[in-house]
Amino acid sequence: MLNTVPRNARIFVAGHGGLVGSAILRRLAADGFTNVLTATRAQLDLRDQAAVNYWFKANRPEYVHLVAGTVGGILANSTRPAEFIYDNMMIHATVVHASHLYDVRKLLYLGSSCIYPRLAA
Ligand SMILES: NC(=O)c1ccc[n+]([C@@H]2O[C@H](COP(=O)([O-])OP(=O)(O)OC[C@H]3O[C@@H](n4cnc5c(N)ncnc54)[C@H](OP(=O)(O)O)[C@@H]3O)[C@@H](O)[C@H]2O)c1
Repeated sequence: MLNTVPRNARIFVAGHGGLVGSAILRRLAADGFTNVLTATRAQLDLRDQAAVNYWFKANRPEYVHLVAGTVGGILANSTRPAEFIYDNMMIHATVVHASHLYDVRKLLYLGSSCIYPRLAA
């Protein structure tokens, strides 16, 4: 999504400490992006709409990679379903809404479900 994006654009990686987020950080650095924004969970609970709005207002990201979530694989998904659906619905709602309110140009969202087709080759 970033081929035509200026290398000094403000890019927020939500979930930068995770498996996907840390790979995206490495790729952004390798591609020469100089203004990558991150926040730890202690700094910003992404389930908290007021906190997320405040952070977006203060930092004004132009591009967002939404790769944060409660993740645990198929067994954890099926044994703690209420926790998973709450956390992930909240994180997605807050970040998408703040991106709308604060004029983010593009948002890349990785779905938080295990959605592999059962009988695929
Ligand atoms: N891994 C894959 O192959 C894959 C494939 C497709 C889609 N996805 C989806 O991509 C997303 C990321 O996956 P992943 O494997 O990178 O997961 P991960 O390694 O567990 O990383 C998740 C990240 O989200 C952060 N996070 C979780 N809840 C948070 C909260 N309330 N506030 C702030 N930060 C929070 C975690 O912070 P802490 O470090 O503080 O816990 C962590 O940095 C998930 O939605 C996953 O379902 C993953």
